[in-house]
Amino acid sequence: MKSKMVLLLPAILGLLWVAPAIAGDHVEAAEEYETDPETGLLKAPGFDTVKNNCTVCHSARLFTSRGYTRKIWLEQIRWMQDTQGLWEFAPEVEEEILDYLETYYPPR
Ligand code: HEC
Repeated sequence: MKSKMVLLLPAILGLLWVAPAIAGDHVEAAEEYETDPETGLLKAPGFDTVKNNCTVCHSARLFTSRGYTRKIWLEQIRWMQDTQGLWEFAPEVEEEILDYLETYYPPR
């Protein structure tokens, strides 16, 4: 009786762990994309926009070594806009940049 429970418990825990991943929106794993040799950025959706806007003043390597939440990524952008001469983005461009950063460079 007891030994059955010992086998069952990890199985249930395993299911609880896997279920949300199956049920939730499937986000392409970062490993599915190539890294651009020039910038070090993942060639995932949004790559061109990020490359064109985020590698002008500094190398992308300044920020690809980081991982932040969307909120913090946005704070970094606002900080550069307020103090470092970063230009304003059209809302859809900003969305694309934030989607990309949030998805492929999340907190680690
Ligand atoms: C107009 C110039 C400019 C552009 C364009 C720019 N940045 Fe920056 N960024 C800076 C400067 C200047 C710093 C400070 C660099 C330093 O501390 O050496 C900085 C710092 C950062 C930091 C903080 C790094 C740290 O040390 O914590 C992040 C993250 C960052 N940039 C991300 C981005 C992203 C993402 C984009 C594209 C949306 C971008 N940058 C575009 C000027 C720019």
